[in-house]
Amino acid sequence: MIIAIDGLAASGKGTLAKLLARHYDFAHLDTGLLYRAVGVAVLQAGGDPTNPQSATAAAQALNPQSVLSLGDTPALRSHAAGDAASKVAAIPAVREILLDFQRNFCANPPSGKSGAVLDGRDIGTVIAPQAEVKLFVTAAPEIRAERRAKELRARGENVTDAAVLVEMQARDARDQERGVAPTRPADDAYLLDTSRQSIDEALAAALAFIATKQQKH
Ligand code: CDP
Repeated sequence: MIIAIDGLAASGKGTLAKLLARHYDFAHLDTGLLYRAVGVAVLQAGGDPTNPQSATAAAQALNPQSVLSLGDTPALRSHAAGDAASKVAAIPAVREILLDFQRNFCANPPSGKSGAVLDGRDIGTVIAPQAEVKLFVTAAPEIRAERRAKELRARGENVTDAAVLVEMQARDARDQERGVAPTRPADDAYLLDTSRQSIDEALAAALAFIATKQQKH
């Protein structure tokens, strides 16, 4: 079984993906980490993440497996990494290079798990359109900015909610308007608005939706 979770920045999709993977004992892939790693590699080489040559070279040199083993590092979670990620993610060749790894994760979830949860922007539309369960997680921009600013401050970044909101909206627009794999809900996705939901409430809503899908199978 594949659970595809898409949504905009700081919508709560990553937390939900982790909790669902734990609940069902499925493998979890945070696909944003791959784009973040490519973006950070370009920055570290002194390049420009909007430059197709630099971004493609960084994507080719990336070992997705090692990104996953390193997991959530502060360098990958920084605000600058998110911004660079969304710039490299708009380049078709970069997405193409990362495609096989993500599809293979769905087809053969690691550690012999019987299912996979992937979260990102194009899981239900491009990576795994065959997924049995598709969720699209949203929340009001001000709420998402407040959540993300809090996370960044906890990681030592000195940011205000207002500044994060402005930059997050620019990133949302770039992600939604790009020519390749723009962020949008799949036609059969269940829309989950977490603006007024606690994590537990969002999880309960997702589990209830998945249960209805399981009854049909
Ligand atoms: O945590 P947050 O939602 O802010 O970001 P993320 O999921 O780590 O993704 C960072 C950036 O990578 C996004 O702004 C997208 O531009 C890009 N991305 C993508 O294009 N496709 C994916 N499947 C995942 C991320």
